Amino acid sequence: MASDRAKLARGPVNQGCLARHASATLFRMTPPFQEYRVFWREFRQHFETTGAVLPSSRFLASALSRYVTECDGKPRRILEVGPGTGAVTKKIVARMTASDRFELVELNESFVANLRERFKSEPDFQRVAAQSEVLHQSVEDLSPAEPYDLIISGLPLNNFSIDLATRLLEALVRLLKPGGTLSFFQYIAVRKARAIVSARGERDRLRGVGRVLDSLLAAGEIRRDWVLANVPPAYAHHVRLDEKGWKAPV
Ligand SMILES: C[S@@+](CC[C@H](N)C(=O)[O-])C[C@H]1O[C@@H](n2cnc3c(N)ncnc32)[C@H](O)[C@@H]1O
Repeated sequence: MASDRAKLARGPVNQGCLARHASATLFRMTPPFQEYRVFWREFRQHFETTGAVLPSSRFLASALSRYVTECDGKPRRILEVGPGTGAVTKKIVARMTASDRFELVELNESFVANLRERFKSEPDFQRVAAQSEVLHQSVEDLSPAEPYDLIISGLPLNNFSIDLATRLLEALVRLLKPGGTLSFFQYIAVRKARAIVSARGERDRLRGVGRVLDSLLAAGEIRRDWVLANVPPAYAHHVRLDEKGWKAPV
């Protein structure tokens, strides 16, 4: 009886989250060869903006989308930035509820076409297709009517100039609702290792990007997940800012 009451208190939305999660488990057994092929081709053609040789592992995707699972029944606005082939998207769509609204913003035209196809043809994606939209543009140019409750970013910030990395992080913060959660990843130790073996200009750039990222994390990191089962291993950072927000270091 008591446990029935507890189930009722959790309500249908939580049950919905769990049901979607179970169906995702079945689906991720499909070998992602096609996904790797598309990702590798785009990495060779657009190294700087793609920023990785392989899509995120399912473990990193799970860590990045952990706050999508925490649903309290209220409709949420969710944004994925730089979804690529959809490795993280696959987890997000499986964890969304029927009242969520999902937008994806992607710069690369081939990734956009591939993602739109997935929303037409894959069951987990089809289920939320009517509440989702893939936008072909830079996140910097995005100006939605309302900010987002959750932002999950795959941007390869370490590949960018300090100025661009700062502008992109400022855009993410501008797009986030007060009290909303921003999740993004960094490869463990890769920036520091690259800085050690790089010439001075590149070293200064990498250290500058690191300073900007550290300042955002100092302003509001609420959780950090270590994901060793990824190539390369990565941290998933989760940031929630208070009313003071965040100001990039100059
Ligand atoms: C490292 S990949 C991550 C892909 C995917 N999220 C994953 O984890 O497998 C970075 C992605 O960010 C996209 N991207 C880079 N700059 C962007 C920008 N300014 N706005 C939107 N997407 C961008 C790239 O095209 C690429 O798909």
